[in-house]
Amino acid sequence: MFDQKLSAMFSRRTLHPVVIALGFVSVLCLIYLQSGHHGSLGSVGYPSRSSPHDLIDDINNSTLGFQKIFVVGLPQRTDRRDRMILEASLTGLEIEFIDGVLGKDIVNKSIPMGPNKERMGDPVLGCWRGHMNAIQQIIQRNITSALILEDDVDFDVRIRKLMRNFAMGVRTLTQPLTSSLGSFADPSFPLPREQSSQSDPFTEISFDNLPSTVPPRVSPYGDNWDQLWLGHCGQRFPDGKNKLIPRGRVIHTGDLSVPQPRHLWSWPQPFELVERYPEHTRVIHHSQEGVCTLGYAVTQKAARQILYEIGLKEVRSAIDIMLRWFCEGSEGMAYHRCLTSQPGLFHHHRPRGPVSAGTDIGDHGDGFREKALTDMTRWSVMLNADILLEGRTDFVDQFPDTQDQA
Ligand SMILES: *[C@@H]1O[C@H](CO)[C@@H](O)[C@H](O)[C@H]1NC(C)=O
Ligand SMILES: *[C@@H]1O[C@H](CO)[C@@H](O)[C@H](O)[C@H]1NC(C)=O
Ligand SMILES: *[C@@H]1O[C@H](CO)[C@@H](O)[C@H](O)[C@H]1NC(C)=O
Ligand SMILES: *[C@@H]1O[C@H](CO)[C@@H](O)[C@H](O)[C@H]1NC(C)=O
Repeated sequence: MFDQKLSAMFSRRTLHPVVIALGFVSVLCLIYLQSGHHGSLGSVGYPSRSSPHDLIDDINNSTLGFQKIFVVGLPQRTDRRDRMILEASLTGLEIEFIDGVLGKDIVNKSIPMGPNKERMGDPVLGCWRGHMNAIQQIIQRNITSALILEDDVDFDVRIRKLMRNFAMGVRTLTQPLTSSLGSFADPSFPLPREQSSQSDPFTEISFDNLPSTVPPRVSPYGDNWDQLWLGHCGQRFPDGKNKLIPRGRVIHTGDLSVPQPRHLWSWPQPFELVERYPEHTRVIHHSQEGVCTLGYAVTQKAARQILYEIGLKEVRSAIDIMLRWFCEGSEGMAYHRCLTSQPGLFHHHRPRGPVSAGTDIGDHGDGFREKALTDMTRWSVMLNADILLEGRTDFVDQFPDTQDQA
């Protein structure tokens, strides 16, 4: 389990003697666990020791460092399942399907409703139920943490590297510093300080110069998160309006998996990622105004909280909106630690073939998509399937750089 007691103690402003004691324990653990070549411990002359097992390497495993990867979708959509099976096998991932349901098959009595008995539309309900079925499995099978994907996603062939970088960012924002125990690289974590109304200061930490943080013991992504919002249609950088959300950012410039700005988009506007940062920048930060639930990871504890808040209380909106409330601590829900990356790491794949009119942006009127595409993903697995099948590595870049930025 994630060590909530420890994080609760760190979340107090003053150092409790137990924290200091734990700090010493952590330092001792570090000496044994961390190889001496990086971090401050190496430089003060502790014996260099190669780590027996850094959790970060678990991100290379078949479930990307989670205990399970679930894919939610209707069993009727065999086309999507075929695609997911192929993507997973081409990248060495192990996935398990969770059956979604059609909204029309959900009976009124099974939908938590408010006093005015408003029933959401069938697509909203079907989607909600599919995700709740996944959450239910995580709880019932006592799964420590799981990644939940929708069945129409695709990702970069370098997904492990990208997830590893993401984990480094999350650790930086949420794990205590080794240099000064009880404090964090992001001064607004875990408790954002009250700030003046005019300025909203936030800390930017360069990915190229990450401070050394206490290695996590349970998850390669750190032990202080509830949800990782990995596939979305946009996020906002925390702007201080919500006083609960920490504002630190890890800035990874020169990440060539990020296409040039003209290939990026975001539903929440303005799109600060492209307005503020140079091209090929990825930013890891706490989630605000997340949209779309293409992919997200949850801990066991968060799964239980989601079932309680989103499964059993009134279904008042689409799943992604309710998940956003869950993250932000709004609409009567408690705040939860949700972290994200802009751009996301899992995106919609739109295959070649007939498209149902009106559901997609940028399709031609005849309702047929000539060319498959995956949003914002340069070396898409699906679009490189033939190359991966042959064991080649000369991947096709969906969004090559051009000099003249439009
Ligand atoms: C669930 O998993 C946790 C952590 O692995 C363990 O401590 C707990 O005993 C498990 N619960 C059950 C009912 O197996
Ligand atoms: C993880 O996998 C990547 C390729 O997917 C490889 O380059 C790297 O060396 C692996 N790391 C470990 C620790 O196995
Ligand atoms: C992958 O790593 C995670 C995190 O350590 C672990 O819980 C999970 O069991 C591993 N999965 C596999 C298939 O090795
Ligand atoms: C289900 O509830 C909705 C909204 O309250 C109502 O319009 C509909 O008639 C109900 N369906 C059944 C089968 O009772």
